[in-house]
Amino acid sequence: MNLLVVGSGGREHALVWKLKQSPLVETIYCAPGNAGIGETAELVDIKSSDAHALLEFAQKNDIRLTVVGPEQPLVDGIVDLFREHRLRIFGPTRAAARLEGSKAFAKSFMHRHGIPTAQSGTFTQGQLKELQEFVHRLPAKPVVKVDGLAAGKGVVICDSAKDAIDVCHEIFETKSFGVAGERIVIEEYLEGEEASFFILTDGKSIAPLSAAQDHKRASDGDRGKNTGGMGAYAPAPIITERMRERIIAEIVEPTIEGMRNEGTPYEGCLFVGLMMTQRGPKVLEYNCRFGDPEAQVLLPLIDEDLAMLFAEIAAGSLSTTTIKQRLGPAVCVVMASGGYPGDYEIGKEIHGLELLQESSEVIVFHAGTKREGSKVVTSGGRVLGVTAVGSDGNLKRTISKAYEAVEKISFEGVHYRRDIGKKGLKYFQAKQAVS
Ligand code: AMP
Ligand code: GLY
Repeated sequence: MNLLVVGSGGREHALVWKLKQSPLVETIYCAPGNAGIGETAELVDIKSSDAHALLEFAQKNDIRLTVVGPEQPLVDGIVDLFREHRLRIFGPTRAAARLEGSKAFAKSFMHRHGIPTAQSGTFTQGQLKELQEFVHRLPAKPVVKVDGLAAGKGVVICDSAKDAIDVCHEIFETKSFGVAGERIVIEEYLEGEEASFFILTDGKSIAPLSAAQDHKRASDGDRGKNTGGMGAYAPAPIITERMRERIIAEIVEPTIEGMRNEGTPYEGCLFVGLMMTQRGPKVLEYNCRFGDPEAQVLLPLIDEDLAMLFAEIAAGSLSTTTIKQRLGPAVCVVMASGGYPGDYEIGKEIHGLELLQESSEVIVFHAGTKREGSKVVTSGGRVLGVTAVGSDGNLKRTISKAYEAVEKISFEGVHYRRDIGKKGLKYFQAKQAVS
């Protein structure tokens, strides 16, 4: 069958790379893709936001399955549009994607279904008095979040109630987030380590994948600005088998059951962002898609035919609840443009890619890259995701393998974190100390 993958980042490269391994797959098209994806898939010059053009392309090119990488088209209803035209597509409907598209919806949903999350309130500009009272009553420092999608910029962790009120005033007054900022969620700050938990579901059956950990801050030691994610590793040892069962029972099952009971079944990949607090796992956010860079470590660990799994989900019946996974681990180091996540220059030639022939142990996923004649140049903030895949469960060795590969690649201004995966090592050291 022919497939269409929508998106252009490292996540979409990982999807294309994994889907291509399926014997069911003939041609993969990717809209709009990037230089690395272009090595495996045929690039189509359509933006991921142009659902009607994507639909027309799918109709004309005998596309049997469309896989959507980013959240915006899902939240905008691309799945509903394709289904109206009887085309198979992997991802949640617009109503189900509200779990990510509206934080106010997600919070009230969790409240309705008793799903553990931070205490919160939702307010509009007309409710400033209630907002102020609420912030003063919060037991921890306030976190302010705009309701809608904000490309990772809609969350502010505040030091005091006054700070939070000022931030809310500014959002309401300047309208800098547009409709996304018409409602604000304020919640208590949660202490702990974060983890990303992923499942595949057809709305009824749940097939968990590995848990991963992202590294959101720009600099080592979780310092610096927030980014889209500077690296990831999986499986995350903070999620023990017992914890995994607890997360499924307390969070994942009530979410999938709740969505089904509310008449908006959730189908696709659900990514639950968790804070592992002293009082147990709590939901920080839902995402209606794979994470990026998490997909770059999760997908190489899946030991199944991904195209078949996605096609089953798109047809509404997933045949398994256990997805075979390799031991791994997998570690992905993101190589970013100088200045990212702030301003950065593009068009820098990337050197050294030819030194890394693809192997089962090291894969270079492209994110912001573009082909210019015989050169590959940078075209975005996150440029490459260099992923090493181990087979013996040894995280330390896999981290070294990833960095050995990273050191072969260069471009002007490149920056990357040097401590990806380090937070996972302490669990291995603890285990060794006990045994
Ligand atoms: P979100 O988009 O809701 O996941 O927020 C982005 C990031 O902000 C998260 O990955 C956390 O690092 C941080 N964050 C969000 N909510 C909270 C919270 N209640 N407590 C502590 N950190 C938070
Ligand atoms: N890595 C976080 C995200 O994809 O939202």
